Amino acid sequence: MTTFASDNHSGAHPEVLAALAAAGTGHQVSYGRDAFTARLQDVFREHFGDAAQTYPVLNGTGANVVALQAACDRWGAVVCADTAHIHVDECGAPEKVAGLKLLAVPATNGKIKIADVRREAWGFDDEHRARPQAVSLAQSTELGTVYTPAEIRAIADLAHEHGMLLHLDGARLANAAAHLGVPLRAFTTDAGVDVLSFGGTKNGMVLGEAVVVLNPALNRGMDYLRKSSMQLISKMRFVSAQFLAMFEDDLWLRSATHANAMATRLADQVRDLPGVTIPHPVQANAVFIRLPEPALAELHAQFTFHDWPTGEARWMTSFDTTPEDVDALAKATRAALTR
Ligand SMILES: Cc1ncc(COP(=O)(O)O)c(C=O)c1O
Repeated sequence: MTTFASDNHSGAHPEVLAALAAAGTGHQVSYGRDAFTARLQDVFREHFGDAAQTYPVLNGTGANVVALQAACDRWGAVVCADTAHIHVDECGAPEKVAGLKLLAVPATNGKIKIADVRREAWGFDDEHRARPQAVSLAQSTELGTVYTPAEIRAIADLAHEHGMLLHLDGARLANAAAHLGVPLRAFTTDAGVDVLSFGGTKNGMVLGEAVVVLNPALNRGMDYLRKSSMQLISKMRFVSAQFLAMFEDDLWLRSATHANAMATRLADQVRDLPGVTIPHPVQANAVFIRLPEPALAELHAQFTFHDWPTGEARWMTSFDTTPEDVDALAKATRAALTR
C-alpha cells in the first residue's frame, strides 16, 4: 500500500538494504571506530568541504538536540519558525533534553524572515533573558518549501554579526538540494551554516541521520554530547553503511529528485480544480491542499494522509511513490470535487 501520509511511511531503498546486508558479516570495532564510519567522513567531506566532521545518529529529533547543544550554552536560546519541527513536533526535547529556550517567530510558507531574526537579536548580556545563540532553519521546511542559498547566507550573516550560529534541520536536506539544483555545500558550507543534520530515514534509509559540524569550533565535546543525548550507536557501521549506499551513484539525489517530481506532478494535476487552494509553493516533496470538507472526507476513505492543524491536508511523496499512485490520487480528487 502506498500512502501519502509521510515519507516515513515508505520502506527502504533496495540499494540501501543490499548495503546493510553486505555490512552484516564479520566484526567491526563499535561506537563509530569501524571502517564504514571512517569512509563516511571522507564522503561527507567531498560534499561539505574539508572541515566537515560527521556524527551519525539515530533519528532527526536526536540530531537536532545534539546539534543545538553544540551551538549553544546551557543558558542559550534558539530562534526558529513557529512551524519548526523542533518547536511543534519534538515533545519539547530541545527544551527538556538540551535545556534551551526556543524563540519561535511567525513563519511564512514555513520560512523565517530576516526581520524576525533581527527582532529577537537582543538581550545578549542580560541574565534575565536566555541568550540568543543560534538560529535554526529547516531545509527543506516542514511546509515543503526551500530557502535559497542567498536567503540562508543573509540569515547566517545576521546571526554571525550578533555572535549567533546557524543550524539547519536537514531531515529533508536532499529534497532541498534536488529542488535548488546546486551542490550541497552551496547552501550550507558556502552559505555560512555552522552545523546541520543530514536526513537519511525519510529518503530511503531504514533509519539514521547525521549531524555534520561545519564550524570546527563546535566539535568540542560533540562525542560527549551525542552519548549523553542517547544518540551514540554501538553498531554504528549499520547507519554508516546505509549512508555510503546513499552517496553511491548519488542515490540520495536520485531519490529526492524523484520524490519532489512526484509532488510537483500531484500539485499540477489538482491545482486548478474548483475549490482547491494550494497555499504554499510546492518545492520539495509535500503538497499542502485546502479542499471542501465533503471531498476531503471522500479522499480520506480511499487514501491515507494527514490533516494539518491549520486546515490543509498534507500529501507527502517518497522515493518510491509512483506516477500511477499520484495519478490515482489526482483522479480521485477530481472526481470528489466534480460530483
Ligand atoms: C523537519 C523535520 N525535522 C526532523 C524530523 C525528525 O524526526 P524524527 O525524530 O522522527 O526522526 C522530522 C520528521 O518528521 C522533520 O519533518
